Amino acid sequence: MDERPIGLMDSGLGGLSVMRVLHKQLPNESLVFVGDQGHFPYGTRSQAELQRLVLNIGRFLVEQDIKMMIVACNTATGAALPLLQRELPVPVIGVIEPGAIAAVHHQLETVGVIGTASTIEKGAYPATIHRLAPQMTVYSHAAQAMVPVVEHGLTGTPQAQETVNTALSFFDSHPVDGLILGCTHFPFLAPEIQQKMGPDVLLIDPAHETIKQAQAMLTEQDLLRDRNGGTITLFTTGDRTDLVAGAKQWLAGQFTSCDHVDL
Ligand code: SIN
Repeated sequence: MDERPIGLMDSGLGGLSVMRVLHKQLPNESLVFVGDQGHFPYGTRSQAELQRLVLNIGRFLVEQDIKMMIVACNTATGAALPLLQRELPVPVIGVIEPGAIAAVHHQLETVGVIGTASTIEKGAYPATIHRLAPQMTVYSHAAQAMVPVVEHGLTGTPQAQETVNTALSFFDSHPVDGLILGCTHFPFLAPEIQQKMGPDVLLIDPAHETIKQAQAMLTEQDLLRDRNGGTITLFTTGDRTDLVAGAKQWLAGQFTSCDHVDL
């Protein structure tokens, strides 16, 4: 039994899509989340900038006495996971390898990956999938325009559907059996994405496999917190209002505090 919280981070509200799966799966774990809204968006930043920002947040989370860090952001995972694993004194897991594993488990012939410009350029999804399943066809496509739709609270609007339709028109000529939501903002657009892709395309949210791996690691290292119910503490490097609104919507308001922090 280890009472310490699990730390999570994202460039903005996307990380809440991972947090809601984590909180449902392991409700006794306390969580500390940093949304880097002060530096949003990540998807168009250089690798060096991303590494500096994400390492800073990792160090802040370690100061909060976390027992594990989950990088709940594909762009940050792609740019900084090995760095965090080297520099921080706690186990760190990202979302890309779990997302690729989830796609391989489904034994699809053709899979699409959507993410930020940075995630798609980096190519970690196709590389990981092809290591595990060389026969699988992978079409990667940047859908950066969909990220601010979530960040600005526009999901469920005609504008959201229009943005998704345009961003994913690439798949009109590249049909797929499944689509990896390779940005943690995108699960909040699942209805719009399913509407565009059609009912037969399987949407794959890497959060589920990520949390499965986190649970396995915590169990193996005897770090699980198995009673009392966990608390959720939120920090943002930007305006509290947006994160509070996001947490009310996506975490059903289940958080203890939300504070601004300069990082
Ligand atoms: C972004 O800030 O561009 C989104 C980052 C991500 O979730 O990959």
